[in-house]
Amino acid sequence: MSPRRIYLKNLSEILSRSKVVSKDTCIVIFDRKLLKAVPGFKTFIGKFKHSFPVTAGESLKSFAEFSKLTSKIHKEVSDDSSLSVNRSWSVVAIGGGSVGDAAGFFASVYKRGLRLVHVPTTWLSAVDSSHGGKTALNLLGAKNQIGTFYEAQETILVQSVLMSLSESHRLDALGEFSKTAILDRKVKLKSNLGKITSLDLWKVLPQAIEAKLKIVRQDPTETLGHRQLLNLGHTMGHVFEAALGLSHGRSVGLGILFAIDVSEAESCLSQKRAEALRQWLATLGISKSLSEGPSKSGFRKVSVVQAKRLLLQDKKISKKESVIFIVIRDLGRCERREIPLKLLISTGLKAGWLK
Ligand SMILES: NC(=O)c1ccc[n+]([C@@H]2O[C@H](COP(=O)([O-])OP(=O)(O)OC[C@H]3O[C@@H](n4cnc5c(N)ncnc54)[C@H](O)[C@@H]3O)[C@@H](O)[C@H]2O)c1
Ligand SMILES: [Zn+2]
Repeated sequence: MSPRRIYLKNLSEILSRSKVVSKDTCIVIFDRKLLKAVPGFKTFIGKFKHSFPVTAGESLKSFAEFSKLTSKIHKEVSDDSSLSVNRSWSVVAIGGGSVGDAAGFFASVYKRGLRLVHVPTTWLSAVDSSHGGKTALNLLGAKNQIGTFYEAQETILVQSVLMSLSESHRLDALGEFSKTAILDRKVKLKSNLGKITSLDLWKVLPQAIEAKLKIVRQDPTETLGHRQLLNLGHTMGHVFEAALGLSHGRSVGLGILFAIDVSEAESCLSQKRAEALRQWLATLGISKSLSEGPSKSGFRKVSVVQAKRLLLQDKKISKKESVIFIVIRDLGRCERREIPLKLLISTGLKAGWLK
Protein backbone atom coordinates (compact mmCIF):
# COMPACT_ATOMS: atom_id res chain seq x y z
CA MET A 1 0.00 0.00 0.00
CA SER A 2 1.41 3.35 -0.90
CA PRO A 3 1.69 5.81 1.99
CA ARG A 4 -0.75 8.69 2.35
CA ARG A 5 0.57 12.25 2.35
CA ILE A 6 -1.61 14.56 4.38
CA TYR A 7 -1.17 18.33 4.15
CA LEU A 8 -2.50 20.22 7.17
CA LYS A 9 -2.49 23.80 8.37
CA ASN A 10 -2.02 23.04 12.07
CA LEU A 11 -0.89 20.28 14.40
CA SER A 12 -4.27 20.25 16.10
CA GLU A 13 -5.83 18.75 12.94
CA ILE A 14 -3.69 15.60 13.11
CA LEU A 15 -5.94 13.60 15.42
CA SER A 16 -9.05 14.18 13.35
CA ARG A 17 -7.46 13.82 9.91
CA SER A 18 -5.12 10.88 10.38
CA LYS A 19 -6.46 7.35 9.97
CA VAL A 20 -3.69 5.92 12.11
CA VAL A 21 -2.83 8.39 14.88
CA SER A 22 -4.81 8.10 18.10
CA LYS A 23 -4.30 9.35 21.65
CA ASP A 24 -4.10 5.93 23.27
CA THR A 25 -2.50 3.43 20.90
CA CYS A 26 0.46 5.39 19.63
CA ILE A 27 4.06 5.58 20.72
CA VAL A 28 5.01 9.16 19.92
CA ILE A 29 8.73 9.84 19.61
CA PHE A 30 9.36 13.58 19.32
CA ASP A 31 12.22 16.09 19.22
CA ARG A 32 12.22 17.78 22.64
CA LYS A 33 13.30 21.06 20.97
CA LEU A 34 9.78 21.35 19.55
CA LEU A 35 8.39 22.05 23.02
CA LYS A 36 9.97 25.49 22.85
CA ALA A 37 10.34 26.03 19.11
CA VAL A 38 6.77 25.33 17.98
CA PRO A 39 3.88 27.32 19.44
CA GLY A 40 1.16 25.03 20.78
CA PHE A 41 3.33 21.92 20.67
CA LYS A 42 3.24 21.34 24.41
CA THR A 43 -0.57 21.26 24.44
CA PHE A 44 -0.63 19.01 21.39
CA ILE A 45 1.84 16.45 22.76
CA GLY A 46 0.08 16.48 26.13
CA LYS A 47 -2.89 14.76 24.48
CA PHE A 48 -0.98 11.51 23.92
CA LYS A 49 -0.78 8.79 26.53
CA HIS A 50 2.69 7.55 25.50
CA SER A 51 5.09 10.21 24.30
CA PHE A 52 8.88 10.12 24.45
CA PRO A 53 11.08 13.20 24.00
CA VAL A 54 14.48 12.68 22.35
CA THR A 55 17.43 14.92 21.57
CA ALA A 56 17.76 15.24 17.79
CA GLY A 57 21.05 14.79 15.97
CA GLU A 58 23.41 12.04 14.84
CA SER A 59 23.93 10.75 18.39
CA LEU A 60 20.25 9.79 18.50
CA LYS A 61 21.06 7.36 15.68
CA SER A 62 23.74 5.57 17.73
CA PHE A 63 23.21 2.05 19.05
CA ALA A 64 23.65 3.25 22.62
CA GLU A 65 20.86 5.84 22.35
CA PHE A 66 18.64 3.44 20.45
CA SER A 67 19.01 0.84 23.16
CA LYS A 68 18.18 3.41 25.89
CA LEU A 69 15.12 4.68 24.04
CA THR A 70 13.83 1.21 23.20
CA SER A 71 14.23 0.03 26.80
CA LYS A 72 12.43 3.11 28.11
CA ILE A 73 9.50 2.65 25.73
CA HIS A 74 9.31 -1.08 26.37
CA LYS A 75 9.36 -0.56 30.13
CA GLU A 76 6.57 2.01 30.01
CA VAL A 77 4.27 0.03 27.77
CA SER A 78 4.87 -3.31 29.45
CA ASP A 79 4.59 -1.97 33.02
CA ASP A 80 0.97 -1.11 32.35
CA SER A 81 -0.80 -4.48 32.46
CA SER A 82 -3.90 -3.00 30.82
CA LEU A 83 -1.92 -2.42 27.64
CA SER A 84 -0.99 -4.92 25.06
CA VAL A 85 1.01 -3.35 22.31
CA ASN A 86 0.23 -5.18 19.11
CA ARG A 87 0.69 -4.60 15.43
CA SER A 88 -2.28 -2.26 15.31
CA TRP A 89 -0.33 0.29 17.34
CA SER A 90 1.55 3.06 15.60
CA VAL A 91 4.84 4.81 16.10
CA VAL A 92 4.57 8.52 15.37
CA ALA A 93 7.90 10.23 14.62
CA ILE A 94 7.72 14.00 15.10
CA GLY A 95 10.94 15.79 14.26
CA GLY A 96 13.65 16.18 11.65
CA GLY A 97 15.48 13.46 9.75
CA SER A 98 17.39 12.09 12.73
CA VAL A 99 14.18 11.49 14.69
CA GLY A 100 12.49 10.01 11.61
CA ASP A 101 15.44 7.67 10.92
CA ALA A 102 15.70 6.41 14.52
CA ALA A 103 11.95 6.20 15.22
CA GLY A 104 11.40 4.61 11.80
CA PHE A 105 13.97 1.92 12.64
CA PHE A 106 12.30 1.37 16.00
CA ALA A 107 8.88 1.00 14.31
CA SER A 108 10.28 -1.51 11.85
CA VAL A 109 11.73 -3.86 14.47
CA TYR A 110 9.78 -3.42 17.73
CA LYS A 111 7.27 -6.27 18.09
CA ARG A 112 8.37 -7.23 14.56
CA GLY A 113 6.96 -4.02 13.17
CA LEU A 114 4.39 -1.44 14.20
CA ARG A 115 2.69 1.00 11.88
CA LEU A 116 4.69 4.15 11.24
CA VAL A 117 3.64 7.79 10.80
CA HIS A 118 6.09 10.59 10.04
CA VAL A 119 5.43 14.19 11.00
CA PRO A 120 8.54 15.92 9.62
CA THR A 121 9.37 19.23 11.27
CA THR A 122 12.36 20.40 9.19
CA TRP A 123 12.24 21.23 5.49
CA LEU A 124 14.86 18.60 4.85
CA SER A 125 12.78 15.87 6.44
CA ALA A 126 9.59 17.20 4.83
CA VAL A 127 11.00 17.02 1.30
CA ASP A 128 13.34 14.09 1.65
CA SER A 129 13.91 11.84 4.63
CA SER A 130 10.28 11.15 5.58
CA HIS A 131 9.57 9.64 2.15
CA GLY A 132 10.99 6.57 0.50
CA GLY A 133 11.02 4.18 3.43
CA LYS A 134 14.63 4.27 4.57
CA THR A 135 15.29 3.99 8.30
CA ALA A 136 18.76 4.25 9.76
CA LEU A 137 21.17 4.03 12.66
CA ASN A 138 24.86 4.85 12.60
CA LEU A 139 27.61 2.39 13.47
CA LEU A 140 31.08 3.19 14.82
CA GLY A 141 30.68 6.77 13.66
CA ALA A 142 29.78 5.78 10.09
CA LYS A 143 26.37 7.07 8.98
CA ASN A 144 23.37 4.89 8.16
CA GLN A 145 25.12 1.52 8.36
CA ILE A 146 22.17 -0.20 10.05
CA GLY A 147 18.67 0.16 8.71
CA THR A 148 15.58 -1.21 7.07
CA PHE A 149 13.29 -0.31 4.22
CA TYR A 150 10.04 0.44 6.00
CA GLU A 151 7.37 2.65 4.47
CA ALA A 152 5.33 4.93 6.69
CA GLN A 153 1.57 4.50 6.43
CA GLU A 154 1.16 8.26 6.54
CA THR A 155 3.41 11.28 6.27
CA ILE A 156 1.77 14.37 7.69
CA LEU A 157 3.05 17.75 6.52
CA VAL A 158 2.04 20.60 8.81
CA GLN A 159 2.25 24.07 7.29
CA SER A 160 2.43 26.08 10.53
CA VAL A 161 5.35 23.98 11.80
CA LEU A 162 7.38 24.22 8.60
CA MET A 163 6.62 27.89 8.00
CA SER A 164 7.93 28.78 11.46
CA LEU A 165 11.39 27.37 10.70
CA SER A 166 14.33 29.78 10.70
CA GLU A 167 16.22 31.25 7.75
CA SER A 168 19.04 28.84 8.42
CA HIS A 169 16.72 25.81 8.15
CA ARG A 170 15.36 27.26 4.90
CA LEU A 171 18.88 27.55 3.47
CA ASP A 172 19.58 23.97 4.56
CA ALA A 173 16.60 22.79 2.53
CA LEU A 174 17.54 24.41 -0.77
CA GLY A 175 19.99 21.68 -1.77
CA GLU A 176 17.45 18.86 -1.63
CA PHE A 177 14.64 20.98 -3.14
CA SER A 178 16.76 22.03 -6.10
CA LYS A 179 17.95 18.44 -6.52
CA THR A 180 14.35 17.38 -7.17
CA ALA A 181 13.86 20.31 -9.55
CA ILE A 182 16.91 19.21 -11.57
CA LEU A 183 15.79 15.58 -11.61
CA ASP A 184 12.22 16.37 -12.62
CA ARG A 185 11.01 19.33 -14.68
CA LYS A 186 7.59 19.16 -13.04
CA VAL A 187 9.09 20.64 -9.88
CA LYS A 188 8.68 24.37 -10.48
CA LEU A 189 11.06 25.84 -7.94
CA LYS A 190 11.21 29.55 -8.52
CA SER A 191 11.57 32.75 -6.57
CA ASN A 192 9.33 35.69 -7.27
CA LEU A 193 10.70 37.94 -4.56
CA GLY A 194 14.41 37.63 -5.32
CA LYS A 195 14.78 34.65 -3.01
CA ILE A 196 12.92 31.45 -2.24
CA THR A 197 10.57 32.05 0.67
CA SER A 198 9.10 29.50 3.06
CA LEU A 199 5.77 29.89 1.26
CA ASP A 200 7.49 29.04 -2.06
CA LEU A 201 8.86 25.87 -0.44
CA TRP A 202 5.47 24.93 0.98
CA LYS A 203 3.80 25.38 -2.41
CA VAL A 204 6.36 23.29 -4.29
CA LEU A 205 6.53 20.58 -1.59
CA PRO A 206 3.95 18.17 -3.14
CA GLN A 207 5.73 18.31 -6.52
CA ALA A 208 9.15 17.81 -4.93
CA ILE A 209 7.93 14.83 -2.88
CA GLU A 210 6.29 13.30 -5.95
CA ALA A 211 9.55 13.69 -7.90
CA LYS A 212 11.39 11.69 -5.24
CA LEU A 213 8.67 9.05 -5.03
CA LYS A 214 8.59 8.60 -8.78
CA ILE A 215 12.22 7.51 -8.65
CA VAL A 216 11.80 5.45 -5.46
CA ARG A 217 8.86 3.49 -6.95
CA GLN A 218 11.07 2.28 -9.79
CA ASP A 219 13.70 0.95 -7.40
CA PRO A 220 12.28 0.81 -3.86
CA THR A 221 15.11 -1.16 -2.28
CA GLU A 222 17.92 0.42 -4.28
CA THR A 223 18.85 -2.79 -6.06
CA LEU A 224 18.44 -1.70 -9.68
CA GLY A 225 20.55 1.42 -9.58
CA HIS A 226 17.77 3.80 -10.58
CA ARG A 227 17.36 5.13 -7.04
CA GLN A 228 20.97 6.30 -7.19
CA LEU A 229 19.71 9.30 -9.20
CA LEU A 230 18.68 10.70 -5.81
CA ASN A 231 22.37 10.90 -5.04
CA LEU A 232 22.71 13.89 -7.33
CA GLY A 233 24.98 16.34 -5.52
CA HIS A 234 25.74 13.87 -2.73
CA THR A 235 29.10 12.35 -3.77
CA MET A 236 31.01 15.58 -3.27
CA GLY A 237 28.29 16.85 -0.91
CA HIS A 238 29.36 14.23 1.63
CA VAL A 239 32.95 15.42 1.29
CA PHE A 240 31.94 19.03 2.01
CA GLU A 241 29.76 17.89 4.90
CA ALA A 242 32.57 15.95 6.57
CA ALA A 243 35.49 18.24 5.73
CA LEU A 244 33.86 21.64 6.29
CA GLY A 245 31.38 20.65 8.98
CA LEU A 246 28.48 22.07 6.95
CA SER A 247 24.89 20.91 7.26
CA HIS A 248 23.77 18.12 4.93
CA GLY A 249 21.49 20.43 2.95
CA ARG A 250 24.10 23.13 2.29
CA SER A 251 26.65 20.46 1.36
CA VAL A 252 24.24 18.98 -1.18
CA GLY A 253 23.71 22.46 -2.66
CA LEU A 254 27.48 22.78 -3.14
CA GLY A 255 27.64 19.19 -4.40
CA ILE A 256 25.12 20.06 -7.12
CA LEU A 257 27.33 22.96 -8.26
CA PHE A 258 30.24 20.52 -8.35
CA ALA A 259 28.11 18.06 -10.36
CA ILE A 260 27.55 20.83 -12.93
CA ASP A 261 31.34 21.29 -13.19
CA VAL A 262 31.83 17.54 -13.70
CA SER A 263 28.97 17.37 -16.22
CA GLU A 264 30.62 20.17 -18.17
CA ALA A 265 34.03 18.45 -18.00
CA GLU A 266 32.38 15.24 -19.29
CA SER A 267 30.71 17.18 -22.12
CA CYS A 268 27.25 16.31 -20.84
CA LEU A 269 26.52 20.01 -20.53
CA SER A 270 27.67 22.79 -22.84
CA GLN A 271 29.46 25.73 -21.24
CA LYS A 272 26.43 27.91 -21.97
CA ARG A 273 23.94 25.49 -20.44
CA ALA A 274 26.18 24.92 -17.40
CA GLU A 275 26.38 28.66 -16.82
CA ALA A 276 22.60 29.04 -17.17
CA LEU A 277 22.11 26.33 -14.53
CA ARG A 278 24.60 28.01 -12.18
CA GLN A 279 22.79 31.31 -12.57
CA TRP A 280 19.40 29.73 -11.94
CA LEU A 281 20.76 28.08 -8.78
CA ALA A 282 22.24 31.42 -7.67
CA THR A 283 18.80 33.03 -7.90
CA LEU A 284 17.54 30.28 -5.58
CA GLY A 285 20.33 30.99 -3.09
CA ILE A 286 22.75 28.23 -4.03
CA SER A 287 26.24 29.51 -4.64
CA LYS A 288 29.73 28.86 -3.33
CA SER A 289 28.96 31.23 -0.45
CA LEU A 290 27.03 28.36 1.19
CA SER A 291 30.42 26.96 2.19
CA GLU A 292 30.99 29.86 4.58
CA GLY A 293 29.13 28.18 7.39
CA PRO A 294 27.98 30.04 10.49
CA SER A 295 31.35 31.73 11.13
CA LYS A 296 31.12 33.62 7.78
CA SER A 297 34.82 33.03 7.31
CA GLY A 298 34.61 33.10 3.52
CA PHE A 299 34.78 30.37 0.90
CA ARG A 300 36.70 27.34 2.11
CA LYS A 301 38.44 24.75 -0.03
CA VAL A 302 39.01 21.11 0.87
CA SER A 303 42.48 19.60 0.55
CA VAL A 304 42.98 16.99 -2.16
CA VAL A 305 44.27 14.47 0.40
CA GLN A 306 41.15 14.85 2.54
CA ALA A 307 38.80 14.77 -0.46
CA LYS A 308 40.39 11.53 -1.73
CA ARG A 309 40.19 9.91 1.68
CA LEU A 310 36.53 10.85 2.08
CA LEU A 311 35.61 9.81 -1.46
CA LEU A 312 37.25 6.43 -0.95
CA GLN A 313 35.29 5.95 2.28
CA ASP A 314 32.06 6.63 0.44
CA LYS A 315 30.15 3.44 -0.23
CA LYS A 316 29.52 4.40 -3.83
CA ILE A 317 33.19 4.05 -4.75
CA SER A 318 33.96 0.94 -6.77
CA LYS A 319 37.25 -0.96 -6.54
CA LYS A 320 38.54 0.59 -9.73
CA GLU A 321 38.88 3.97 -8.06
CA SER A 322 35.97 5.30 -10.01
CA VAL A 323 32.67 6.55 -8.74
CA ILE A 324 29.07 6.10 -9.81
CA PHE A 325 28.37 9.79 -10.20
CA ILE A 326 25.13 11.49 -11.25
CA VAL A 327 25.75 13.81 -14.18
CA ILE A 328 23.33 16.42 -15.48
CA ARG A 329 22.44 16.64 -19.15
CA ASP A 330 19.65 19.15 -18.70
CA LEU A 331 16.78 19.89 -16.35
CA GLY A 332 14.91 16.59 -16.02
CA ARG A 333 17.72 14.63 -17.67
CA CYS A 334 20.25 13.17 -15.27
CA GLU A 335 22.09 9.89 -15.56
CA ARG A 336 24.47 7.60 -13.72
CA ARG A 337 28.00 7.48 -15.03
CA GLU A 338 31.20 5.85 -13.84
CA ILE A 339 33.68 8.68 -13.33
CA PRO A 340 37.36 8.13 -12.44
CA LEU A 341 38.35 9.55 -9.08
CA LYS A 342 41.17 11.34 -10.91
CA LEU A 343 38.67 13.33 -12.96
CA LEU A 344 36.75 14.36 -9.87
CA ILE A 345 39.95 15.61 -8.27
CA SER A 346 41.19 17.46 -11.37
CA THR A 347 37.76 19.09 -11.86
CA GLY A 348 37.72 20.03 -8.18
CA LEU A 349 41.11 21.69 -8.51
CA LYS A 350 40.27 23.45 -11.76
CA ALA A 351 36.92 24.77 -10.55
CA GLY A 352 38.41 25.92 -7.25
CA TRP A 353 36.74 23.47 -4.86
CA LEU A 354 39.94 21.73 -3.83
CA LYS A 355 43.44 22.86 -2.93
N1 LIG B 1 15.95 8.31 5.61
C1 LIG B 1 16.30 9.04 4.58
O1 LIG B 1 15.91 8.76 3.43
C2 LIG B 1 17.14 10.28 4.79
C3 LIG B 1 17.35 11.16 3.74
C4 LIG B 1 18.09 12.33 3.99
C5 LIG B 1 18.60 12.56 5.27
N2 LIG B 1 18.38 11.66 6.26
C6 LIG B 1 18.90 11.89 7.62
O2 LIG B 1 18.26 13.06 8.14
C7 LIG B 1 19.10 13.69 9.10
C8 LIG B 1 19.18 15.16 8.78
O3 LIG B 1 17.88 15.74 8.78
P1 LIG B 1 17.49 17.02 9.67
O4 LIG B 1 18.42 18.13 9.37
O5 LIG B 1 16.04 17.23 9.55
O6 LIG B 1 17.87 16.42 11.10
P2 LIG B 1 17.68 16.72 12.64
O7 LIG B 1 16.60 15.83 13.13
O8 LIG B 1 19.02 16.55 13.26
O9 LIG B 1 17.20 18.24 12.76
C9 LIG B 1 18.11 19.31 12.60
C10 LIG B 1 17.95 20.31 13.76
O10 LIG B 1 16.69 20.97 13.66
C11 LIG B 1 16.03 20.95 14.93
N3 LIG B 1 14.60 21.04 14.66
C12 LIG B 1 13.77 20.08 14.18
N4 LIG B 1 12.54 20.59 13.95
C13 LIG B 1 12.58 21.89 14.33
C14 LIG B 1 11.63 22.96 14.33
N5 LIG B 1 10.38 22.80 13.84
N6 LIG B 1 12.03 24.17 14.79
C15 LIG B 1 13.28 24.36 15.22
N7 LIG B 1 14.23 23.42 15.23
C16 LIG B 1 13.88 22.20 14.78
C17 LIG B 1 16.53 19.69 15.58
O11 LIG B 1 16.38 19.74 16.99
C18 LIG B 1 17.99 19.68 15.15
O12 LIG B 1 18.74 20.51 15.99
C19 LIG B 1 20.44 12.98 9.00
O13 LIG B 1 20.57 12.08 10.08
C20 LIG B 1 20.36 12.22 7.68
O14 LIG B 1 21.16 11.06 7.67
C21 LIG B 1 17.66 10.53 6.05
ZN1 LIG C 1 20.47 14.13 1.11
